Amino acid sequence: MIQGGHELPLDVLYARRNAKWAKYGKDVLPAWVAEMDFAVAYPIRRAMQRIAEEQEYGYAMRNGAQAEKSLTAAFARRMQARYGWTVDPALAEPLTDLVQGQFATIWAFSQPGDGIILHLPAYPPFHMAIKETGRHILANRMVPAAGRFEIDFDDMKAQARQSSMIMLCNPQNPTGRVFTRAELEAILAIAVEHNLVVVSDEIHSDLIYDDLVHIPFASLSDEAAARTVTITSATKGFNIPGLRCAVMHFGTAELQARFRKSFPSHMLGSPGIVGIDATVAAWDEGQPWQDETVRVLGANRNRIAEYFAAELPGMTFYKPEGTYLSWVDCSGLNLPGTAHDFFHERAKVAFSPGEAFDTNCPKFARFNFATSPAILEQILGRVSKAVRSHNA
Ligand SMILES: Cc1ncc(COP(=O)(O)O)c(C=O)c1O
Repeated sequence: MIQGGHELPLDVLYARRNAKWAKYGKDVLPAWVAEMDFAVAYPIRRAMQRIAEEQEYGYAMRNGAQAEKSLTAAFARRMQARYGWTVDPALAEPLTDLVQGQFATIWAFSQPGDGIILHLPAYPPFHMAIKETGRHILANRMVPAAGRFEIDFDDMKAQARQSSMIMLCNPQNPTGRVFTRAELEAILAIAVEHNLVVVSDEIHSDLIYDDLVHIPFASLSDEAAARTVTITSATKGFNIPGLRCAVMHFGTAELQARFRKSFPSHMLGSPGIVGIDATVAAWDEGQPWQDETVRVLGANRNRIAEYFAAELPGMTFYKPEGTYLSWVDCSGLNLPGTAHDFFHERAKVAFSPGEAFDTNCPKFARFNFATSPAILEQILGRVSKAVRSHNA
């Protein structure tokens, strides 16, 4: 029974039934799917315990209204408190998960055969959402510049002529970019010129380093709000992805009405009370936990940057500005196969395969470093040993 404490030991982690620790055997250290190896915040645990102890398994009400209203109200409080962004809770709708929001918005705001701009490398479900709905990806490959990945705006302007939507991910998975106001304004200018809808996935917005800030795309201006659907949740920032609860916010009532024409009110399903209560507890009371978590993650990030520079010159670690994910270029190692397979087989470390984010990137891996400093050292040691034996 986990009582508290932030870091979880290896035996507890290997006993878990969630994807990160259950997919591979006990000889492998997992650093792939976006889950963190930390105990959740106490307010979330307390909310879960209350539901179980009181056996509150009926149709849920909170504060005299349907429980979903407590979720959208908490979303509005959170956006105001964290980002100074004032949102109308009536324009926010509960979802079970963000990927559902990606599929639904593509369905509602584009037509089969349309092109949709996606910055690559990109989280694999974005690719799926565009392809499985019969649209096609307009691949905007970001370019490395001064240690980070940047959007190719010339390419994007050309693509916008054949596009109806932009799928934006900010902070970006897997590069960890936190787009600046100037970059977001440049995206907006393209969207306005070509009348594009922007779906802004901001699921990683809580996890940002140094003095950088997250700017909700819809908060840029009224013009931005009028074309933006924001999808977000507490699931990454508070490590509760299995509870399936998210929010989709429309910048205006007109945009929401356009969506509703394709998706009548109950077509999306709704989150369960466990996810709702956990999310409300996280957003309203979880900030001290999250501040401490971001401190640990930031220290891990700095440790990897130092370690790679000193020990692993054949690998380029693009230090993320946000998220606990990082995009690692292993092409300097001259590996025979993919980076993922090499590290899985030779280091017994499971990264996410680069080619899942961009088919051009089999020599890249996505490294999830949301673990304890002790486990991180083991991962780094295994990676370094495998690289040394490959070079020997
Ligand atoms: C950018 C991004 N969007 C969405 C998700 C998944 O969200 P959900 O589990 O709510 O579908 C993730 C998970 O890692 C993600 O990184």
